[in-house]
Amino acid sequence: MSSPKTYFVTTPIYYVNDAPHIGHAYTTVAGDVLTRWHRQRGEDVWFLTGTDEHGQKVLRTAEANGVSPQDWADRLVESAWKPVLHTLDVANDDFIRTTQSRHTERVQAFLQSLYDAGHIYQGDYEGPYCVGCEEYKVAGDLIDGTGEYAGQKCCPIHSTPVEMLSETNYFFALSRYGQALLDHYEANPSAVEPASARNEVLSFIRSGLDDLSISRSTFDWGIKVPWDESQVVYVWFDALLNYATAVGLGDTDEPGQSKFASTFPADVHLVGKDILRFHAVIWPAMLLAAGLPLPAKVFAHGWLLVGGEKMSKSKLTGIAPSAIIDHFGSDAFRYYFMRAISFGQDGSFSWEDMSARYTAELANGLGNLASRVTAMTNKYFEGVLPEAVSSGAAEKELAQVAARAAQAADSAVDSLSFSGAINATWELVDAVNGYLTIQEPWKVAKTMDTDQAARDSVATTLYAAAEGLRILSVLLNPVMPKACASLWSQLGAEVALGSLASQRIQDCGQWGLLPAGSVLTKGDSLFPRLEDPEEFSS
Ligand code: MSP
Repeated sequence: MSSPKTYFVTTPIYYVNDAPHIGHAYTTVAGDVLTRWHRQRGEDVWFLTGTDEHGQKVLRTAEANGVSPQDWADRLVESAWKPVLHTLDVANDDFIRTTQSRHTERVQAFLQSLYDAGHIYQGDYEGPYCVGCEEYKVAGDLIDGTGEYAGQKCCPIHSTPVEMLSETNYFFALSRYGQALLDHYEANPSAVEPASARNEVLSFIRSGLDDLSISRSTFDWGIKVPWDESQVVYVWFDALLNYATAVGLGDTDEPGQSKFASTFPADVHLVGKDILRFHAVIWPAMLLAAGLPLPAKVFAHGWLLVGGEKMSKSKLTGIAPSAIIDHFGSDAFRYYFMRAISFGQDGSFSWEDMSARYTAELANGLGNLASRVTAMTNKYFEGVLPEAVSSGAAEKELAQVAARAAQAADSAVDSLSFSGAINATWELVDAVNGYLTIQEPWKVAKTMDTDQAARDSVATTLYAAAEGLRILSVLLNPVMPKACASLWSQLGAEVALGSLASQRIQDCGQWGLLPAGSVLTKGDSLFPRLEDPEEFSS
């Protein structure tokens, strides 16, 4: 029997011309949340990220800094791109660099096979090129420059002037694949999402595809074209292949062959909307030419905006993830971007909004709930979770909310609606908080030493609230792994139920799993109050 396919999630590989900002972190965090969610379902998952190191953009940055491009890439990868994964609490399975031989050799073999099969030919090209995008532009898409670029034609994404390039290169016969791609997208409506992205891709393909120049002769920072060493492979052609080279493309030996068979193609390529066409037109055409299977889904998310424009280092609007994480922690960062911006749409980051949500939702909402429940269990029952001896309609209602939340969150993640999943989960946070407000166990407890009914009521209330927290730990673990690990341990759940990682999303909404007798401890506050909550208010 063949084993089920590994759920394969990718981020784009990031250019190493500069250090990461929160726009890059956004894609990576989304990939990590998706990965952790599928792991929490018990699936086998492979999460790939990495760096895109060739091309003119990186070369020019290295030159401007007086170092070789390889040294520059090494420096940026070690000092910035790998450390940011730790800062973001990302659990990737692999990190591919396009300068690694496992990549370059497989790219060359792939290219040679397309060349041998007649999908690549030599030709001339002349056109406006944007080094920021590493892409030839269509003249009609250019905008008029302003300020220092007045009178020049500029890239609509970078607002910097394009350069006229004229070269003899090798071309990939992309134009042959228009109909096959349309047929594929017709037959697989969820292969490009959201709908706006799908429409953009379909109309782009329908407008007619040109063949693509896939090599460069005017600089040498790239993978050599195997049959003509005077040319290097176009950086995008090289970069897209990372999704295949990282899992063993073309290997005839083990373990590469098995890895490729069980992992490729991707279940989800997460990309920003600016790089949608590369992923939903060029990449699948490359795969069609090679006779390889196509990814199940390309999902294009929106941009983080600053002043209405895409946040970017080149426009000096980039914010480093650590600037936010040093203050709020990685859990709050992950939570904020996944909840406050609907995945697929543009959104703006603001310190005020971040701070307000931290205080209202995390510190006062979830954090305060956890500390009240553990504190009261300690105060009234010496930390030992009592039995829910007098459960009634209110507890039944809570159990139903929990089951609904777990179910709704799970299906929201299926449609990559991270905000939908968190909103669904928050119904349970609010319900447990509302339940405590109505039950008022701190008041009922005043007579519990003399009144058995009062004691039973407090016991039942605390059991139900702790059980709600147990379910919340599982549902929120993919988003906020640190806080949930702490909550799981504060609930004493590990002893009876095993590790948090072993809890299944599909089972967690079942009521009554946390056994009475579990020992609750009042640990550190999950979301410490901000020292100066007014700091970011306008
Ligand atoms: N190297 C290419 C990708 C090759 S994938 C085979 C590239 N790199 S990038 O570093 O410029 O961008 C990587 C990702 O970061 C893209 O998905 C891009 O959309 C995303 N973001 C960069 N700035 C962003 C925002 N301001 N907001 C959200 N995402 C943004 O493109």
